[in-house]
Parts: sequence; C-alpha cells; structure tokens
Amino acid sequence: MNTLTVKDLCKTYIINKRQNNVLKNINMEIREGEMVAVMGPSGSGKSTLLYTISGMDHLTAGRVDFFGKDISALSAAQMSSLRLNEMGFIFQQMYMLKNLTVYDNIILPAYQAKSGKSKEQRKEINDRAKELMHKLGISEIAEHDINEVSGGQLQRACICRSLINNPKMIFADEPTGALNQQNSKEVMKELNRINAEGTTIMLVTHDMKVAAKSDRVLYIEDGSIKGEYTFGKYKGQEENREREKKLSVWLMEMGF
Ligand SMILES: Nc1ncnc2c1ncn2[C@@H]1O[C@H](COP(=O)(O)OP(=O)(O)OP(=O)(O)O)[C@@H](O)[C@H]1O
Ligand SMILES: [Mg+2]
Repeated sequence: MNTLTVKDLCKTYIINKRQNNVLKNINMEIREGEMVAVMGPSGSGKSTLLYTISGMDHLTAGRVDFFGKDISALSAAQMSSLRLNEMGFIFQQMYMLKNLTVYDNIILPAYQAKSGKSKEQRKEINDRAKELMHKLGISEIAEHDINEVSGGQLQRACICRSLINNPKMIFADEPTGALNQQNSKEVMKELNRINAEGTTIMLVTHDMKVAAKSDRVLYIEDGSIKGEYTFGKYKGQEENREREKKLSVWLMEMGF
C-alpha cells in the first residue's frame, strides 16, 4: 500500500498580487516503509512540498492521499488530529517550547493525542518517552531546560518527540542541517533504525551523505520533480562510499 499518493499537486503563493507558482503538477508516490530523500537547489520548493503534502499548508490544486484517504478533503480539525496521531515532524528550527524541560516537550504531543487521556495511558507514555530517550542517548538531560542542551541533543529530543505517538510517517526538513558530522551521523543512524522498524520517512536534505542513506532520492528543480534515483534499502556503513559516489555522479547529471 502507498503511504502517500500525490496527484497533480500545485502550490501558488501570491505576494503583492504577483503569482509565484512554487510547485507545478507534482506527481509522486511513497510506499509504506520507504525512506525518500528530497534534494534540489535552494528555493526549488522542497520545504513547500513537505508542508503541503503533510497538511501543514494548503495546496492550491491537486490531491494528496495518506493511506488511501484524501486528506485535502479533511477539515482543519480532522487534519490536525491526523497530524498529531499519525504523523511525526522534525524541523531544522525545532519548535520546542521554552521554559519546559526536554522531557515535558517530548511527552506533550502524547498527552494531547487520543491515546493520552487516561491514567494508564499516561503511564505508558512516560515509559515510552524514557525508552526513546534512552535509545537516543539523552536520558541525562531529561530535566534540562530546552536552552540548556547542545544542538545535537536538541535534535535528538526532537526525534523522540516526533516518535512519541508511534507515527506511521515522519516528515523531516533538513533534520541534520544544524549539526556537525558526528551528530549528523547519529541522527541518521536513528532515522535508519526507525525506518527499518517500519516507519515511512520523507526528508529534505542538502547533504549527500544523508540522502545516500535513503531508499530513493527525488530531485526537485523550479517546482517540478526533475528526476529520481533508486538505491534500495541502506544496509550499513560499508555501503556509504559506493552510494555517495553513485549519488554524486547522478546529482551532477541533474545539474546540482
Ligand atoms: N509562506 C510563503 N509565502 C510566500 N512565498 C513562499 C512561502 N514559503 C516559501 N515561499 C517561496 O516558495 C519558493 C520555494 O521555497 P521553499 O522554502 O519551498 O524552498 P526550498 O527548496 O525548501 O529552499 P531551501 O533549500 O533554501 O530551504 C521560494 O521562492 C520562496 O520564496
Ligand atoms: Mg527548505
């Protein structure tokens, strides 16, 4: 089954009465369990694509199906419930709440979700948050304030938060953009692990090393998908060089 089916998606922004056609007839599919990277020049529409197909922004025309359900037909309330309960988000500018601890930021979406209402459910959430933080190596900073942790730690906290409601799909916009090589590697290791456990992932990145660890790379230019490169599943770091080499040759052909 497809996680996402996008048909003739268009997105137009109007600023000072001037039309900017940012996405032009995008057609794409993402299968369940896939990890797809989106690359392309700055301003080509990558973030806009992520925001429109995840229902964070309205689309101008076209249709998006999430697990076979037309999400463009949902009301705002239905859409936000779908986002909260079935999707996870990771952004470069992480929207964490200040004056709350790392731990509280992570569990917040779960307390808001359908499955976070009873006392037993909340105990489950707390156990799950602790397990996630342990897996991502940030247990020690649970009680730290958001502004008392490093960029890499914050990014890992953001991944924990995106996973707290067991999403079917994760949308990530440059999840490693603010990180050094080491932290970037760790974050990718986690995303690959989460993906191997069955979560579909779509991520936008400028980093070839990051894109080379996905199953498939889409190249966007000027609001259209200009090409795609299929790797197949990433099996481990011994493949890194080979994949990065292939991707760099292909990106050069694409004019990146
Ligand atoms: N909210 C908005 N209102 C008006 N125009 C917008 C808005 N968001 C994006 N745009 C325009 O849409 C185009 C694509 O922007 P987008 O952020 O999707 O690019 P991008 O590929 O993610 O670039 P980058 O790699 O720099 O992040 C740009 O021309 C941008 O100015
Ligand atoms: Mg962007």
